[in-house]
Amino acid sequence: MTKMTQQVRVAINGYGVIGKRVASAVLAQTDMRLAGVADIAADWRLRPLEGQGIGLYAATPDHGASMREAGLAIAGTQNDLLAQADVIVDCTPKRIAARNADIYRASGIKFIVHGGEKHEVTGHSFVAEVSFDSAVGRAATRVVSCNTTSIVRTLTALKRAGLLKRARGTLLRRATDPWESHLGGIMNTLVPEPDIPSHQGPDAQSVDPELDVVTMAVKVPQTLAHLHYWSVQLTRSVSKEEVLSAFRASSRIALIRADDGLGAINTVKELMADLGRPHDNLYEVALWEDMLEVKGDELFYAYMVDNQAIVIPDTIDAIRALSGLTQNGYESIAQTDKSLGIRTQMY
Ligand SMILES: NC(=O)c1ccc[n+]([C@@H]2O[C@H](COP(=O)([O-])OP(=O)(O)OC[C@H]3O[C@@H](n4cnc5c(N)ncnc54)[C@H](O)[C@@H]3O)[C@@H](O)[C@H]2O)c1
Repeated sequence: MTKMTQQVRVAINGYGVIGKRVASAVLAQTDMRLAGVADIAADWRLRPLEGQGIGLYAATPDHGASMREAGLAIAGTQNDLLAQADVIVDCTPKRIAARNADIYRASGIKFIVHGGEKHEVTGHSFVAEVSFDSAVGRAATRVVSCNTTSIVRTLTALKRAGLLKRARGTLLRRATDPWESHLGGIMNTLVPEPDIPSHQGPDAQSVDPELDVVTMAVKVPQTLAHLHYWSVQLTRSVSKEEVLSAFRASSRIALIRADDGLGAINTVKELMADLGRPHDNLYEVALWEDMLEVKGDELFYAYMVDNQAIVIPDTIDAIRALSGLTQNGYESIAQTDKSLGIRTQMY
């Protein structure tokens, strides 16, 4: 940590869907400084960095040569970047971060991996509202996947209100990310995940082992976001208002209304663009207030998960927890929310 400014120096490895959003979010924090970005690509995706004054580092020497050949200004090697940072956020594709973990441990830098990696890579799984405290001062954590983050946020809200007995969810998963939808992704079909439970339920238990949760999932032919349907056994019969107040207690769940025209995921993304958010990011779980139904002690609801954005605020909180900028999770969440414009009421 730079002493004069009390800013944590943050490096990012992998400047793709998650990496570039983490970079923008780090730049919006007063207590963090972006030390630079490492990658191996040599095309248009890295070109905007120079104009933004963000240092680009070559993740491997071989790739450094091809990046220079492509005309990219390279500030140094991955080791050079590690030497200038307090925390590195690894946003490389699945399984690469697990290999990088040994390099990070050897260099003594704190590190964060993302949901493509297994819990065992860091031994700690992070969703800010649940596991901030246990992450404070640790060497490493894993910010869980987009779907898992949404499950932990929503079920924790019900649990904290004393309402949660068990939850069963069906996940409609986007086929691929928009920027690479010319390369692959399904069309004119639905692809059920072969195993029940799908991995997201057990993954939520890596953050909170007490959750009684089962998930099933199907891949759907669109790229905007995931959509979840949940059926929850409550501890007692309650009113709809009581359930809504439980969800309102989380700053990262936003209630939306289909009867106000937000009846489909494309309209919610359009609203994010209208709000002027970077990359049209929906950081919150967007849960349909008017669709939600309570039948005695059973609860039914649906929500949207912007897979590209939901893990960004939690990543910022994870940086604060590991670096010990604050020991107070609520303080960090409030600071992150303010900096990114996160809100429970969208308008
Ligand atoms: N895309 C999502 O919706 C999403 C959501 C939540 C979590 N995640 C998780 O976030 C992580 C990153 O996923 P993503 O979707 O941003 O990936 P991505 O493919 O969009 O970006 C990965 C970036 O890493 C670079 N890269 C590849 N190999 C590298 C290496 N050896 N060293 C340095 N850089 C390298 C690529 O060039 C690319 O720029 C994964 O763990 C993923 O499971 C993704």
